[in-house]
Amino acid sequence: MKFFIDTANIEEIKKAAELGVLDGVTTNPSLLAKEDGNYKDILKRICELVDGPISAEVTALEADNMVSEASELCKIHKNIAVKVPCTRDGFIATKRLSDKGIMVNMTLCFSPLQALLAAKAGAAFISPFVGRLDDISHVGMDLIEQIIQIYENYVFSTEVLVASVRNPLHVVESALMGADVITMPFKVIEQMAKHPLTDIGLEKFLADWKKVKKD
Ligand code: G3P
Repeated sequence: MKFFIDTANIEEIKKAAELGVLDGVTTNPSLLAKEDGNYKDILKRICELVDGPISAEVTALEADNMVSEASELCKIHKNIAVKVPCTRDGFIATKRLSDKGIMVNMTLCFSPLQALLAAKAGAAFISPFVGRLDDISHVGMDLIEQIIQIYENYVFSTEVLVASVRNPLHVVESALMGADVITMPFKVIEQMAKHPLTDIGLEKFLADWKKVKKD
């Protein structure tokens, strides 16, 4: 299972990378809007920090323009994975980009049918947004289960990248289902490492260690 971080914040990326378990980064226009500086410089810096797929999203809506924008984004670094939305034009652009060997992460996926089209178009990743489905009272993780099943039925190589992750339970369920990748906000990565019983246990061990004779 690959771990990506869902942020464009350099400090968060540095701290997550320090853990030694980071395989890539996902950004989107909303995440880049929160940061200071030119988006291309930010993406370049991220590519220097993490050796893995770094998702950068196109904002064009029409297939030809998506392809041109994708080509520009790919010039930033060899590890750029172009994020393309699951729209009609997005599928057309994805097929064209994938045929050229460009790594595409199809984003804003909310249905198994969109995921099936993404795989047929040759996307490297499909990003179903589980948190946003939960937000409207649909069980986001049900979509992950369906996509994994469909991809297994036909041995598609598109990787299931669980996105819009809001809490550690999304991570547990994704791992149990065998999702290929999960992209997590920094907060969730931090939560993964923590357990109150670990802290309480450690405190007791350290207190008892003071009572142990050392000479
Ligand atoms: O990167 C896309 C996705 O993870 C967005 O998450 O929390 O804005 O729904 P969120």
